[in-house]
Amino acid sequence: MIDIKMQKAMNAQINAEMYSAYLYLSMAGYFENINLKGFASWMRVQAMEELTHAKRFFAFLLERQGKVVLAEIKAPPSEWNSPLEVFEESYKHEVVVTGLINNLVSIATDLKDYASVAFLQWFVNEQVEEESSVDGVIQSLKLVDNQANGWFLVDKDLAARTFIPPIGVVI
Ligand code: FEO
Repeated sequence: MIDIKMQKAMNAQINAEMYSAYLYLSMAGYFENINLKGFASWMRVQAMEELTHAKRFFAFLLERQGKVVLAEIKAPPSEWNSPLEVFEESYKHEVVVTGLINNLVSIATDLKDYASVAFLQWFVNEQVEEESSVDGVIQSLKLVDNQANGWFLVDKDLAARTFIPPIGVVI
């Protein structure tokens, strides 16, 4: 059975992942409004991925005979000044999430909860990938000087991303 401290921290992480999904969905809406369909699609895929992150914690807590306690999800912002500003905010957000994951690993290690440590390793790796992919888009936007005619080039690239349902996660 999972320790109550770990349970509380993982429930908080479910909320953080659901907020991430909400944030990226809001960003998808922003991009739809300014007719950047590829950016919007990328953000929709990102939102779906965040939902699967939340579901991973949900499933793990239950598997460890823990209790799922869902909390209110705060409202994300809905206005940005440019695609670059959106991705810079995404990057900052992912750095915060990386900190949360690292904190979970610290709690699990202190509790000698090695099942949680092993489970969390997937998220440690995922955060490296998430920070890197968002930074990649930031670099592309900087290459085109964050200008509208360059946004369309980046938009085409981002349109290619598809959601791949993870194996073993019920969504
Ligand atoms: Fe679930 Fe973007 O971290």
